[in-house]
Amino acid sequence: MSGSSGAASTPGGLTTTRAPFIEAAQANGQLYIHQPYELYSEANHEAWRQLYHRMEDRWQRYANPRFLEGIGSLCLDPTRVPRLDDVNRFLSPLTGFKAKAVSGYVPSFLFFDCLRNREFPTTITIRDAGMLDYLPEPDVFHDIAGHVPMHTDRAFADTLVRFGDCAHTAAEIVAGIKDEREKIRRMTSIYKAMARFFWFTVEFGLMRSGDGLKVYGSGLLSSYGEIAHAIDSAEVQRYPVQLEWVINQYFEIDSYQPLLFVVDSFDHLFSLVDQLERWMRSGKLDNVSGGEPAVSEADLRSFLVASAGK
Ligand SMILES: [Fe+2]
Repeated sequence: MSGSSGAASTPGGLTTTRAPFIEAAQANGQLYIHQPYELYSEANHEAWRQLYHRMEDRWQRYANPRFLEGIGSLCLDPTRVPRLDDVNRFLSPLTGFKAKAVSGYVPSFLFFDCLRNREFPTTITIRDAGMLDYLPEPDVFHDIAGHVPMHTDRAFADTLVRFGDCAHTAAEIVAGIKDEREKIRRMTSIYKAMARFFWFTVEFGLMRSGDGLKVYGSGLLSSYGEIAHAIDSAEVQRYPVQLEWVINQYFEIDSYQPLLFVVDSFDHLFSLVDQLERWMRSGKLDNVSGGEPAVSEADLRSFLVASAGK
């Protein structure tokens, strides 16, 4: 744990769970917001600086080369929280993706639909500089330094779009179910399978390379402790990805992952999303095993609204 400065505990600014601007947006039901850059406090910028600085060596050692290229092409300032407009100026010409500021949790269908439109819902708050190591919710460091560099890669970006398409397929499938209880049961199962797939690939995926295993999952790329643990620790089980396993595997978010899956390439990852969609259409995602992630009412509702719109 890095030391915290006295300024880090200053209330306000755009600190995770202590940002009046975000509370007001949520109270007004505003999900998509602008980034009020002037509200970042010096403590917020200091948190970014510390987070970024300590990751640099780890990225060089553990991240896959596409991520490193991505970090380079985004021209992120290591010392200040980035402006999303600046990030997008470099990102959009490469793959059409854009970081889009949100006030908090994005219901799953909307989240997947954003991916389909090459928009990435992005948290703008940043963790307290006194608590750099653990944060259950995403923050701007996780989203911009962990996710967005991957969106500069065409193959990875296309995979995310393809995954977004799957949410539409899911909405289409459940729209055809008359019985309401059966509809909710099927939707819950399909959603669980999709969330698990996302977790074990986009968030925590490993990739084979000529230089050993490398990290491409954003949950690892934004974690100082876990990125090394994922590659070096004898306690982690690492297996070649198997779709039938991934969609039935529960996970917990509040500890280092004991089980990680390895893909061969981004083309391989893309083909897995294709397979996920085929399985969805053939009913293979209708009865996945129970357990985490829990499906929230907001998630169910977002799929129901989407399927009603078909
Ligand atoms: Fe994430």
